[in-house]
Amino acid sequence: MRMAGPIGVFDSGYGGLTVLQELVQRLPQYDFVYLGDNARAPYGNRSFETVFQYTLEAVEWFFREHGCPLVIIACNTASAKALRSIQQRELPKLAPDNRVLGVIRPTAEVIGNYSRSKSIGVMGTKGTVHSGSYPIEIAHFFPELRITQEACPMWVPLIENDEYQSPGADYFVEQHIRRLFAADTDIDTLLLACTHYPLLMDKIRQFVPPHVQVIAQGDIVAESLADYLQRHPEMENRLTCGTSEAQVRFYTTDTAESFEAGGAAFFRGEVKAIHTDLKP
Ligand code: DGL
Repeated sequence: MRMAGPIGVFDSGYGGLTVLQELVQRLPQYDFVYLGDNARAPYGNRSFETVFQYTLEAVEWFFREHGCPLVIIACNTASAKALRSIQQRELPKLAPDNRVLGVIRPTAEVIGNYSRSKSIGVMGTKGTVHSGSYPIEIAHFFPELRITQEACPMWVPLIENDEYQSPGADYFVEQHIRRLFAADTDIDTLLLACTHYPLLMDKIRQFVPPHVQVIAQGDIVAESLADYLQRHPEMENRLTCGTSEAQVRFYTTDTAESFEAGGAAFFRGEVKAIHTDLKP
């Protein structure tokens, strides 16, 4: 019989912790391993090839070092640029019974339910926006929606460098929100299509019109995973599962100390990290 393993959760850095926090809350019976590739973050401006290579290395690491049957790519940039190739080309060679899921599809499946005006704004990294993944995926589920995107290349660096509460952050947050709403004044739903952006939530709310809903992805992804596990008992049976509290382990490609200091605000709780260089 195959050994059971934890759920792997991956991000370029800290952002995936905002998703992990919701996963742990929604699915506390499972064990999780988180990996932040902080040494190589941010991914937002990197090429398709580079993001694919880095993400593949992470997926291989989850399979090899932790026996994860299921990996969630809790990063929009990596989901946009690497997920499909990993699912279609790499997984059949690596571990055909394992699964790698992203954050774009579960979000696309429900985002139209939030909007009355049928106009949605999507804010993300350059990589996510230029990939066109959101308009393509959302059109499958809500073809009537108007999607306006805005790339915010400064937001992740501001957040990763702990400058997200500074007056400098106000400038960049306002600039991108103003551009987005100038392009479509009917937007009533603003999707934060980057797992780092929930840290800017208070600032974003200051600059968006009051009737606009600002949507973060964490609970959407957690709900979708709960539903997936219910529909896939063959996967559910392969996950390590305690009776009450999730065991969560944190790994980073940068130093453990910096991850612990930086990660707590994202996870909204204590983070004890271990360094890994991802090598076998
Ligand atoms: N959290 C990642 C995302 O959702 C940030 C990407 C980056 O590293 O720039 O896109």
